[in-house]
Amino acid sequence: MTDHPSALPSRFSGLSNKLIATIIGVILLVEVVVYFPSIAGYRDSWLQDRLRVGVVAARVLDSVPDVMSLPRNLTDRLLNAAGAYAIVYRREGQSQLIELTDPVTPDLVITADMRQRDLASQIGGAIEVMLAGPGRTLRIVGEGDLDESLVEILMPEGPLRRDMFDYSRNIVLVSLGIAAITAFVLYVLVSRLFIDPVLRLADNMLAFRKAPENAALILSPSERADEIGIVERELAAMESEIFALLRQRRHLADLGLAVAKINHDLRNMLTSAQLLSDQVATLDDPKVQRLAPRLVTTLDRAIAFAQSVMDYGREANAAPQLAPVALRPLVEDAAFDARVLNHPSISFEDTVSPELMVLADGAMMARVLLNLFKNAREALEAESAASPPNQITVSALAGDREVTLSVADNGPGLPARAREHLFVAFEGSVRSGGTGLGLAIARELVEAQGGRIFLGDSEIGTRFDIVLPRDPA
Ligand SMILES: Nc1ncnc2c1ncn2[C@@H]1O[C@H](COP(=O)(O)OP(=O)(O)OP(=O)(O)O)[C@@H](O)[C@H]1O
Ligand SMILES: [Mg+2]
Repeated sequence: MTDHPSALPSRFSGLSNKLIATIIGVILLVEVVVYFPSIAGYRDSWLQDRLRVGVVAARVLDSVPDVMSLPRNLTDRLLNAAGAYAIVYRREGQSQLIELTDPVTPDLVITADMRQRDLASQIGGAIEVMLAGPGRTLRIVGEGDLDESLVEILMPEGPLRRDMFDYSRNIVLVSLGIAAITAFVLYVLVSRLFIDPVLRLADNMLAFRKAPENAALILSPSERADEIGIVERELAAMESEIFALLRQRRHLADLGLAVAKINHDLRNMLTSAQLLSDQVATLDDPKVQRLAPRLVTTLDRAIAFAQSVMDYGREANAAPQLAPVALRPLVEDAAFDARVLNHPSISFEDTVSPELMVLADGAMMARVLLNLFKNAREALEAESAASPPNQITVSALAGDREVTLSVADNGPGLPARAREHLFVAFEGSVRSGGTGLGLAIARELVEAQGGRIFLGDSEIGTRFDIVLPRDPA
């Protein structure tokens, strides 16, 4: 827990806000896409309506033998009703025209051919009308109700444009209304279903992280079966585990402190006893002479035990300083410190190449090797029959990225009880006078450096393999 807990964003800068913006954006986008076909359809039906009036007028024209004989005010009324300047009716090669009493001479005539009504030309026509300036005249051409007849209507384009703009404005208003209502409804739904639970999770995480030892802050998950439900239950489980672990850790730390105190006093008492036993050993009594050495060794062991427990307790868990180090000198030094070099009954063989470099903390690796060599020496020394010459072999196998270092001996092999609790502090020792810390410390140190240590397969004796990252250079 190094970095600070993040703060919850305000309700309007968080998820909800993004959600509303997205919903409104998508709806408006859809509306824009839908707008073009719909304005085209509007223009088309507007033109159709005008054409229909034209067709009705054409029928009137058709029924009178001479159009010129019609009263002027009747034709004017007809044209005004259609909003037209003039109507032309063509059939069987003949054409008839009615126009206003004061004829209008149009300057810019645009033709809308109602016989061509595919969507693309409708949309194109609609856009063209909206973008055009005022003052144009529209010529609507379409079929009449009789075979092979054609009706043409001339009228100003202004009313069409005005109606189309009105229609567009209504569409914009309706779209905004729909977007607002949909966004609101979706927002309420999505908030209830997703955002509120997510906010609850976020709140809970922030609170729990600040006070993980407070069991009241452990999330009570809902019954939901979906992914949010899973997250809630997993988070609750995780928080319970963290809570339990923290409590356990505190208890262990308290216990450790007590043990350290007892151990410290015990060691002082043992040291006094050792002084006494040294004096007792000088007495001439043959019985005392026989028992005293055992008393002295026992006390020595007890003191060494107390000392190593104290050292383990004091262990500073400083982070390793990883750097390229040559393996061979490390091995040689550790072998010397563990008294396996120049040993009277053990031969030591180091086959590690002098050039081999690993990425490790030199001091930590020295302690790891020291523990392994000491274990091997102790095992070999304890073996009574030295029929095959006692030997400790160190070898290294370099891979592309990793180096495997093996420490092997031809001793009695690992006892079953040691195997069961391998690498567990205080549990692994079966040796009298052993603390059971050597392998546990070795594992802790190797893993801190990003490596692995494990028991290797060997037919005789014991072999430990350590895998370390290779120096990339
Ligand atoms: N090379 C080995 N051959 C045989 N047995 C071994 C070997 N290495 C370790 N062991 C066994 O594993 C046990 C655990 O070793 P570990 O180093 O953890 O504890 P220890 O040697 O008993 O005590 P400490 O190292 O703390 O003084 C030893 O007691 C020993 O029985
Ligand atoms: Mg040991």
